[in-house]
Order: sequence, then structure tokens, then C-alpha cells
Amino acid sequence: MKSTRVGIVGAGQLGRMLALAGYPLGVRCLFLDRGADTPGAQVAPSLIGDLENPVLLAELASRSDVVTFDWENISGAALEPLENITRVRPPRAALEVSQDRLAEKALFTRLKIPVAAHAAVESRAQLIQAAEKIGLPGVLKTRRLGYDGKGQYVLRAAADIDAAWQAIGGAGLIYEKFQEFSRELSLVGARSASGQTVFYPLSCNTHGGGILRYSIAPFANARLEQRARGYLKRVMTALDYIGVLTIEFFVVQGRLIANEMAPRVHNSGHWTIEGCVTSQFENHLRAVCDMPLGSTRALGHTAMINFLGVMPDRERLLAIDGLAYHDYGKAPRPGRKLGHCTILKRLPKERTKALSNALKLVEWA
Ligand SMILES: Nc1ncnc2c1ncn2[C@@H]1O[C@H](COP(=O)(O)OP(=O)(O)O)[C@@H](O)[C@H]1O
Ligand SMILES: [Mg+2]
Repeated sequence: MKSTRVGIVGAGQLGRMLALAGYPLGVRCLFLDRGADTPGAQVAPSLIGDLENPVLLAELASRSDVVTFDWENISGAALEPLENITRVRPPRAALEVSQDRLAEKALFTRLKIPVAAHAAVESRAQLIQAAEKIGLPGVLKTRRLGYDGKGQYVLRAAADIDAAWQAIGGAGLIYEKFQEFSRELSLVGARSASGQTVFYPLSCNTHGGGILRYSIAPFANARLEQRARGYLKRVMTALDYIGVLTIEFFVVQGRLIANEMAPRVHNSGHWTIEGCVTSQFENHLRAVCDMPLGSTRALGHTAMINFLGVMPDRERLLAIDGLAYHDYGKAPRPGRKLGHCTILKRLPKERTKALSNALKLVEWA
């Protein structure tokens, strides 16, 4: 069988798991990233240099049947020339909209997907106005380049305005009403060029300090799942999407409020490696390489725990029945995603018990 060459911009853990999923399919990945010791470069060849270096991007494209991303913040201007060399998937428009929280919310709103009340903020005066109009508490966020809760400030009262402005004040911000959510859910799905779409079961996500700590899946709620699938499908269709796409939701009074989307494989979908017939990583490759998409059926009940800042005691975790361990090969740093584990069980109550045992062995730094 002919192998397919996939160029991946960014060689973090997402790229690494894509490359690993590619081997059994006969897909060979080539990365572009700044260092020689990235998680991706430990498992597949890598071009070394800046992610927006035009010469290296052109080389990546010319050596690939399709270019994709593990990092969605590459500029549209850097990407555009690649479209003359090879296929670029997901489409540039999807990356561009997801790079700007304001544009993302405008798209959701146009597609009749509910979002939190929000306003663009370009100055301290506009922040005061937004807090008055939308109300407190609220979250001030940078429109661009925020991740893992970085570039955000929660305002509890008007007295917090100064501190918020001190912390992240400037142009290009968004103020959102704070959502008193009962849960955070995410939906991961994939779409192929022919329009075939598949959806994973919902994942229920617990964050600390803006970073995902653990997820449980499938989260069984047929009504919310159907809603979420409808929303994700609308976005996929509007963007003529190819690849894996994720939407994060808040559940507020039983309703889904879309928070943000990611035009790539997602941390809350890591459980699909062991927990589903076809993982999100494999389905992303299948989608961008024009292969039929695989079954997203869950094999049982899972919990996924992120390793943040410090790696846990591997041997003790591995002693838990049904646990799979993932080390991304990164140097420890506070708040950094270093690895994760997934526990797969037959019954929800077995999963919940194993999760609580595993959580005793994991500390987040
Ligand atoms: N408007 C909001 N109301 C309540 N919590 C929020 C709000 N915005 C963000 N958060 C919390 O912060 C987390 C990270 O924010 P998010 O917008 O997803 O940014 P990112 O994941 O890109 O850092 C969310 O998962 C949620 O827990
Ligand atoms: Mg998020």
C-alpha cells in the first residue's frame, strides 16, 4: 500500500500522538518545530526552525501530501503560500477564526449557537463600560494566543478592574460574563472532505486554574449530546471543515453555552486512544488523508488524568488495572502538560473508583 506523508506544524504532544497513530495506517509524519527534542521529534523526523519560517514551511509542504497542525496559531499569511504546494487541512479559515475569541463567538452567534454575553475591550474605559453593561463577575481575556487559562483574569467586583488591567490590560481583549456552570463538557468530532462526519461521546472536564485536570467519558446525557452534535456539525459545515474539530461548552441551567473551539485534536479527547474503536488522532489523519473515518464507539467507561508540572510515580499508577500511561518526554515546568493516563473500565462505578485511586497518586504543580 502507498504510504501517505503528513506534514505537521508543531511537534508537541498532540503532534506526537498523531505521528504514533499514523504508523499502523502507513502514514508517515514530518514535523516542523523550534527544537530537536520536542515530543514529536522523539518519534518522527522533524525540520528545525521557526514555525512561521517561510522556507521551512515550503519545504514541509513540498515533502508532504497534506499539511496539518498541532498548533493552531500560525498566521493566515504564513499559511497561504502552502496552499499552492500541497493540501492544507483543516482549512485556513477555520484556523483564523479560532485564533480570535471575538471572531469565534461571532461565528457561533451567526450559527445560532449560544455564547456568553461578551464585548470587545480595547481600553480601560471600555473595560469599565463592559463590566457595567454585561455585569460582574466576568472574565477578561486576550482575544489571541491564550491557552491553558493564560491571558485571563476573573473579575469578581468593580474593585478588580484595576488589578485586571494591570495584569493583562491593553488592546485586543474580550470581556465575558462569568458562567456559573454546573459542568464543562466538550465534543470532539471529525469531518472528511466528502462530508462524512463522526462524533465522539461527550467528555466531562474538570479544570483547575484554567488547565484541564481530568475528564470522564462517555458523559451520558442524550439530550445534551444531540444538541452538541448539532452545533459542532453546523460549524463543520460552515467552515467546509476537514479533520478533527472540538467545541468546549459550559452547562448553565441545563443549557449548552459554547466557550471556544479548537481546530485540531484536543486534550479532552485523549481518552479515545484506549477508550474508542478509533482514536481522535487516527480519525484526524484519516480525515486529512481522505481515508474513510473510523468508528467512534466507546469500549467502556474511561477517565483521563493530565500530568501537570511534575510526573507521578509511574510504577504505582501502572499497578491500577486498566490504566494506560503516556509520557510526552518533556522537561518538567510548573503548569506544563507532561503526560496523562487513561483508565478504561467496563462499568461507570469501577471507573469512578479507579479514578479516585489514581487521583491520590497524581499531584498538579
Ligand atoms: N466566561 C467564563 N465563565 C466561567 N469560567 C470560565 C469562563 N471562561 C473561561 N472559564 C474557565 O477557564 C477555563 C479556560 O478558559 P478558556 O476560555 O477555555 O481558554 P483556554 O482553554 O484557551 O485557556 C475554562 O475551561 C473555564 O473553566
Ligand atoms: Mg479552553
